[in-house]
Order: sequence, then C-alpha cells, then structure tokens
Amino acid sequence: MKRDFLHIIDFSAEEIMETFQLAKEVKTKIINRENYKPFKDQTLAMIFSKPSARTRISFETGFFRLGGHALYLSPNDIAVGKREAVKDIARVISRYNDMIMARLFEHAHILELAEYASVPVINGLTDFNHPCQIMADMFTIWEHRGHLKDLKIVYIGDGNNIVHSWLNLAARLPFHFVCACPEGYSPDSETIKKAKESGLSTIEVSHDPKKAVNGADVIYTDVWASMGQKQELEERVKRFKGFQVNNDLMSATGKETYFMHCLPAERGRETTDSVMESKASIVFDEAENRMHVQNAIMLKIAGKE
Ligand code: CP
Ligand code: NVA
Repeated sequence: MKRDFLHIIDFSAEEIMETFQLAKEVKTKIINRENYKPFKDQTLAMIFSKPSARTRISFETGFFRLGGHALYLSPNDIAVGKREAVKDIARVISRYNDMIMARLFEHAHILELAEYASVPVINGLTDFNHPCQIMADMFTIWEHRGHLKDLKIVYIGDGNNIVHSWLNLAARLPFHFVCACPEGYSPDSETIKKAKESGLSTIEVSHDPKKAVNGADVIYTDVWASMGQKQELEERVKRFKGFQVNNDLMSATGKETYFMHCLPAERGRETTDSVMESKASIVFDEAENRMHVQNAIMLKIAGKE
C-alpha cells in the first residue's frame, strides 16, 4: 500500500515525532555534506497551480540532495482540473515518477490525485491546508525550546489553510492553540470541532488579539489575503485593523515569545519590519526547516527511514 501525506492527521502522534527525529538526523547529514543518497535514480514530479518560492526550492533542493531529481511543472504545464481530468494526470505521472508533490487550489483535487496515483502524493498547500509548513514549524519550535511541553501558540490573522493545519496538529500533539481573527474570518468549524474532539489540546478562537497573546510562547501570523484571494485585499485590510503583529503586540505576552510566519510576508501589513528583524523572529529557521522536515516526510512515506 502506498502512503500519502495530505493532512497532518495522516500521521499518528508517534509518526510525527519520528519524523522530527529523522528530520534532525537528515539535517545533520545534509549540513555535513555526507554521502547520503536514498533517492538515487528516483524522480519527484512537482505540480504547481499557484506561485511558490520556499515550497518549490525546498522540495527540489531537498530531493536532489538526497540523490534524486525533481521536475518543476508550472501552472501552465499541467493546469490541474482544466487541461485534463485529475484522475488521468494522476495515472500518467505515476507511470514516469516515483513521487508527486502538488500545490493546488481545490483540496478535492489533491484527494483525487492521491486516490488515482499509484505513487505517494504530498500536499504542498491547497486552499484548505498546508501540512508540510506546520510540520516544519513545530519542528522549529521543538529545536528552539528543546521540548514541546506547556506550549501556547497564538495565531493572529486570517483563519486560513495555515490555521487548519495547526488545528490538525493539535489533534495529534497536545498544546494550547488560539486563533485570533476578525469576526467572519474564523477557521473551518468542522476542523475546529475535530481538533476539540481529540481532547488533547486546548483550542480557542478569539477576536481580541491583545487578550489572546497573554502567556504566548509563539506568536504566528500569515498574510491577510491568501493566494487566490488577492482581489479581497482592500476589504480585508480594513477588516483586519488591529490584527497586525507589531512590537506592541509582541510585548503584550508578558514573557519571552518567538515570532513565526510561514512567509512570504507582506511587511507593514500583517507584521512589521521591526518584528521580522527582531531577536524574537525565527522565520528563517522556519523556512530552512521546510527542506529538512519535507525530506523526512518523503523518506517516511517512501519507507526509506
Ligand atoms: N511558506 C510557503 O509555502 O512559501 P511559498 O509559497 O513561497 O512556497
Ligand atoms: N495562506 C497563504 C500561505 C502561503 C504559504 C496562502 O495560501 O497564500
């Protein structure tokens, strides 16, 4: 049976921690330039329906560093859901390549791609979630703190794909997660419900950023208008007033707090230059760890641990 990684909950808690441990080991091997080529002679097809810097670069570089070759397929090449049926392209790619990574608009399309592909499929972001990002984020927190105990993460901004993956992670590992968003921009209620039902984590949705950040170990933010929503930006800028992560908000936690952002950041909007450049900011460690954690995810689902 082939294995996919489409949601964080596709992995058990144990597998998530094993992935972090593996990421740590593979990161060391890569940094030391060891001759470690588990994907020798293999190919990874990377399908993009949306723009990307980190996801494309980290997957392509990571797969290459592990001995394989990655193909970049731009929005004009495959045009998922437009040029041909998703179930057709899934089977075609499976005849050429050993693994697929896809960044798509509709979540249903990645589910269909995985259903019809005979090789493992990894979700590189959809409108619904971004599991590789949040795995890399939690790994980064684990690296910085040395443990994941008594952890309060406060997300400030839009209840979007990033938040859905945080909620999924909260259904696997215990932590306190607060999403502080303007009214009308809350995350998907079904995803909140499932995270709460797991009974593992404390989950809250708040509309008061100042109150929400009290005691936060991590403040996390993302753009106010995601890819595919940029036409709503003007309206959202008005609605998200008061939700900027600035020095004022960072110092309202009452303790030392890390600042995280999946990037790309729109400096001056959801956060400021000063926070991005502050000592609290671990955004570039987070970006680097995308590659190491994704390498571990690929090794795990390929059964090459
Ligand atoms: N964080 C992230 O996924 O970045 P890109 O959109 O540049 O890939
Ligand atoms: N929420 C953002 C994340 C980008 C990595 C988007 O979907 O555009």
